[in-house]
Amino acid sequence: MTDSPPPRTDLDPENWQDVRALSHRALDDMFDWLQNARGRPVWEQMPAEKRAELSVVLPRGGAALPDLYADFQRLVLPYGAGNEHPRFFGWVNGGGTAAGILAELLVAIFNPNCGGRDHAAIEVERQVIAWAAEAVGFPRDAGGVLLGGSSMANMVALLVARRAAVGAAVRSGGVAGRKLTAYGSAAAHGCIPRAMDMAGLGTDSLRLIPFDAGHRMDVLALRQAISADRAAGLQPFLVVGTAGTVDVGAFDDLAAVGDVAREAGAWFHVDGAFGATAAFSAAHRPLLRGIERADSLAFDFHKWVQVPYDAGCVLVRDRTLQLATFAQSLAYLEGAERGIAGNPPWPRDLGPDLSREFRALKIWFTLRAYGADGIGRVVENGCDVAQHLAARVRRESQLELLAPVPLNIVCFRVVADVADLNRFNKELVADLQESGIAAPSTTTIDGKLAIRAGIFNHRSTRADADALVDGLLQVLEGRKVKEAVLF
Ligand SMILES: Cc1ncc(COP(=O)(O)O)c(C=O)c1O
Repeated sequence: MTDSPPPRTDLDPENWQDVRALSHRALDDMFDWLQNARGRPVWEQMPAEKRAELSVVLPRGGAALPDLYADFQRLVLPYGAGNEHPRFFGWVNGGGTAAGILAELLVAIFNPNCGGRDHAAIEVERQVIAWAAEAVGFPRDAGGVLLGGSSMANMVALLVARRAAVGAAVRSGGVAGRKLTAYGSAAAHGCIPRAMDMAGLGTDSLRLIPFDAGHRMDVLALRQAISADRAAGLQPFLVVGTAGTVDVGAFDDLAAVGDVAREAGAWFHVDGAFGATAAFSAAHRPLLRGIERADSLAFDFHKWVQVPYDAGCVLVRDRTLQLATFAQSLAYLEGAERGIAGNPPWPRDLGPDLSREFRALKIWFTLRAYGADGIGRVVENGCDVAQHLAARVRRESQLELLAPVPLNIVCFRVVADVADLNRFNKELVADLQESGIAAPSTTTIDGKLAIRAGIFNHRSTRADADALVDGLLQVLEGRKVKEAVLF
């Protein structure tokens, strides 16, 4: 009697050929899906029965990969948010590219851990950081690290600023009773107060400075707030300028804000989550005047640069301070002069993550495939489509523009004789999203509910902007009928 062989414990396929064939088919299917984006609705809500199908107990046994792929096609793929679609105008979402897809595929197989050590992926990340620094006018040897997004990048910058303000003792003793205060525009992104909260400094220690009609921080009010806090014995440690506010895409006067920060002896940080991408366009770069003086900058490659999610980045002018904030000595991670444990400093010394994916490759592919000028053209197209949309809004008697359009975001609303115009506009946006024609999002401008269209997708054209307005007017007619019936 022969003993049966023990069950396999490795997870490799029994038949690699089958996996190759399935993967090649899946890749073809996904390229078809991407190429045909324009021909399908932007968004379709996931039906309850399909959501229910996803909710099952932990599988104990294995399933065949073709079955899993079929489930993906049936349960997941049709119900995406729609950000690959040229008429997706909501929030701040990139659309992805062929170069990014290829890089992601390669990374999935190559699978390095980019916390550190001596391997090529670390060099690619260093190159990408140097390109980012070059693009925005930071020194090429600035510190930097790739992160999940600008929320984390702003948080990391805040921690470096805190380290600069308090000194090395902050790492063991915390802020030790100091009353650190930070300053940013009332139009700054919500991740700034969140970073204050997470850093233990508290959102009350962030002064939200009013902004002017152009949604730019009031520099005089900033100066006064800092003086008042200093007189009260507080320690102003951080001034955050915004390059591209999330609501309307406005740029603070970074040179003036930077001057105030410098006079106050405070760290000057810029949140350029998507606005810093303007650096790639000669026509729009002047909006960023003063960014090159910032101590740190947060921005994303996954927004206007179109790199697949996720790909955030923080740059810190003085790399030694970034290292002083995060570097940590642990026995099992001890560096070495030779071997795989060499090549310091490691990305894990520049940020909070130890295990890290190889985000740099998709950025490296994107910047090489399209060049800085290619990204610049995406910026120029987004701004052109936004101006086209704004002009159309101005021409339509039923529409009202609610904010200036300094970049690629248009905020407007439908004007109608209804009891609650805000609710009415909110319903219209939901109607439009559910129609699948186009997908703007909403925000609030001066207490008014605004339909917000951001032109971030590189596939969006003037005709798509017109389709958004046509679709809106169409759902408006439908709602007029509906509300007349209801009331
Ligand atoms: C100005 C600004 N800052 C920060 C963020 C947060 O970025 P992320 O979503 O990558 O964390 C956003 C997101 O849209 C933003 O627009």
